[in-house]
Amino acid sequence: MLIFKENISLKPYNTFGVEAHTKYFYKITNSLELKEVLLKNKAFPFRVLGGGSNVLFTENFEGLTLLIANRGIEVVNESTETVTVEVQAGENWHEFVLWCLNHNYGGVENLALIPGSVGAAPIQNIGAYGVELTSVFKSCKAFNTQTFKEEVLVKKDCEFGYRSSIFKTHQKEKFIITSVCFQLQKPPYYPTITYGALSTIFEGKTPSIQEVATAVIQIRESKLPDPKILGNSGSFFKNPLVSKSHHERLKASYPELPSYPSSDRQLKIPAAWLIDQLGFKGTQHGDAGVHKDQALVLVNLGNAKGKEILSLAQKIQTAVKETFNITLEREVNIL
Ligand code: EPU
Repeated sequence: MLIFKENISLKPYNTFGVEAHTKYFYKITNSLELKEVLLKNKAFPFRVLGGGSNVLFTENFEGLTLLIANRGIEVVNESTETVTVEVQAGENWHEFVLWCLNHNYGGVENLALIPGSVGAAPIQNIGAYGVELTSVFKSCKAFNTQTFKEEVLVKKDCEFGYRSSIFKTHQKEKFIITSVCFQLQKPPYYPTITYGALSTIFEGKTPSIQEVATAVIQIRESKLPDPKILGNSGSFFKNPLVSKSHHERLKASYPELPSYPSSDRQLKIPAAWLIDQLGFKGTQHGDAGVHKDQALVLVNLGNAKGKEILSLAQKIQTAVKETFNITLEREVNIL
């Protein structure tokens, strides 16, 4: 059922736990409600919220905040090897991963414990421990805010890249994702265990999907703060790509610099390492801080304002640029 509220705090709706108000707020539970609300409020700007785990509110909003809260998981197709599952956008991502593990469907076990909603997952092509959403994504239904019609977008339409898709680049704000279809694996599975820590844990073994998920959950819990306890939004920046020549110059000054091949011409550098080198890890700047165990995670240490966290992020970006000549791109959406 559609819920409408006026002048409410968005603090409970963002994992940073920062205070910001919205003039109008709608909790939407199906596509018809979404259409109705957008048609009725054409004069107002709108914003879409899922789990609120990739946003930083820096000011109040005079428009409509739409919380996408439609629920449901349904098997829509099945073969001997795979199953296609349609998941409504408002489902919690981790609960969906647990549902897959309970049903013995493989493919998302490396993505366990990522905060946020299913509908938000394609926007930044969530990824962790060697797997990205794109590897299981089949299609999604999305409401076109220009034509007021629902469309089906298949994988190639979405132009997935590292923490990127059309939904956060050139088609930003055009589509509101209402459901996602995933193609999942039935046994036998071929779990991805190539990522550093996983390859060490499972060396010489073929783990079950449940064992992989358990290991991922343990690793995440050991490094990443639980947003219910300490406000945060996961990685604040993307890991930057640098050219081979830039990498060679940096390596000459910093022989310990870690890097991963990304393409023929570029290497990926862990932003956390750069931030760590500059001494930011574990530091406090007012009520904003850099997590003590993962330098890529900015945290709300109490009652931080969004602007305080943003200013810390800018300080880090400036320092990284000055020292390493690398531009850190934000992963988190500033609103
Ligand atoms: N490192 C440091 N200091 C730190 C933390 C890490 O020097 O405080 C260095 C280490 O060399 C480490 C390397 O950075 O080997 C990589 O660290 P980690 O494995 O923790 O991964 P990450 O590159 O920092 C990325 C994703 C995470 C994802 C992990 C695991 C991005 C922006 N972040 O982090 O995603 O969980 O890999 O796959 O790509 C997220 O997007 O919100 C997120 C948490």
